[in-house]
Amino acid sequence: MKAFAVFPAKRESRLVDHPEPKVIAHTEAKIRVLDVGVCGTDREIVSFEYGDPPEGYEYLVIGHESLSEVVEVADQVSRVKPGDLVVTTVRRPCSHPDCIACREGRQDFCYTGDFTERGIKSRHGFMTELVVEEERYLNVVPRSLRDVGVLVEPLTIAEKSLEQLAQVQQRLPWATPMEPGQATGAGRRAVVLGAGPVGLLGAMALRISGYEVAVYSRSREGADRNEIVAAIGGQYIPAEKYAVNQLPALAGPIDVVYEATGASALAFEVLKYLGSNSVFIFTGVPGHKPPIPINTDQIMRGMVLNNQAIVGSVNAPPHCFQAAINHLGIFMGQWPNALRSLITRRFPIEQAMEPLASGAGGVKNVIAIAS
Ligand code: BGC
Ligand code: ZN
Repeated sequence: MKAFAVFPAKRESRLVDHPEPKVIAHTEAKIRVLDVGVCGTDREIVSFEYGDPPEGYEYLVIGHESLSEVVEVADQVSRVKPGDLVVTTVRRPCSHPDCIACREGRQDFCYTGDFTERGIKSRHGFMTELVVEEERYLNVVPRSLRDVGVLVEPLTIAEKSLEQLAQVQQRLPWATPMEPGQATGAGRRAVVLGAGPVGLLGAMALRISGYEVAVYSRSREGADRNEIVAAIGGQYIPAEKYAVNQLPALAGPIDVVYEATGASALAFEVLKYLGSNSVFIFTGVPGHKPPIPINTDQIMRGMVLNNQAIVGSVNAPPHCFQAAINHLGIFMGQWPNALRSLITRRFPIEQAMEPLASGAGGVKNVIAIAS
């Protein structure tokens, strides 16, 4: 069957003929891949900066943001059935008996670094026709989300971040909503750095949680990202017009920064302008660039004197996939056009290299494997 793969040693990326997987274990399901999203991680992998083939292979089938349909289930599978739409989690546990995170099913917090990731690290991904997966890694998505279900995985990045944000802010005795049902972000201000898919989905999740949201981003040609931000009731602040030191004046005292660019120089600059008792969440993975000077005294002084916290967050556990599926349904109800417009274009697998080489533009490009 067709698959798109990267050969790191040969520095080559292309379509391959990949063996069709078979259901072997009693708890496995076979799924037919429908959509695969392309993200910055994939672009790094096809630039040979990141990513590892599974043991015994010279290539890695890429793709970790997926939406699939179940086609076959083994006899002990009970949570999914043929015809269900599913999104698969990305990370699989390491095998060290003393990695308490992996042993508890929280490989997103793996201690050893020996986890594997579908389409990224030592395990084939979803840019192919059929995949066999353990049922516990499958998350059912309602049919009504068929068009946008491929956005579940990038939204899980925000879901895990928001969960940690709430946990950190429990240090503020008044942070827990007083009224049952009152949103955790009511009366608070969040700044999102970057208007890519992770940033815009994060902005939507923050809005649903009650935050006032400002999105600070460089505007690219032909992008309607400011309209998407306006549609969700956010404020768009173009980085080419306003400097970072103007952010507090434009957005108000900042309670949360959700960083979704991977641009470390920008992130550390924004760190200087955080408000009191605020949290800065890093989600971007910067490439390896030469060191830059930063004023560490100013940043450390500000952090201590204002009780600020920095949290780095990667990957997401199954309950955050569930939260993302629920939230995507709410976004679809409230902002159907804005949500749909996050998906710019669908490409056949034969043209996968076009969005992977970042020549395609737009917010989220998708490889449509089947319909
Ligand atoms: C994926 C995560 C993964 C991370 C690091 C991201 O693009 O969404 O699931 O853990 O890359 O490999
Ligand atoms: Zn991704």
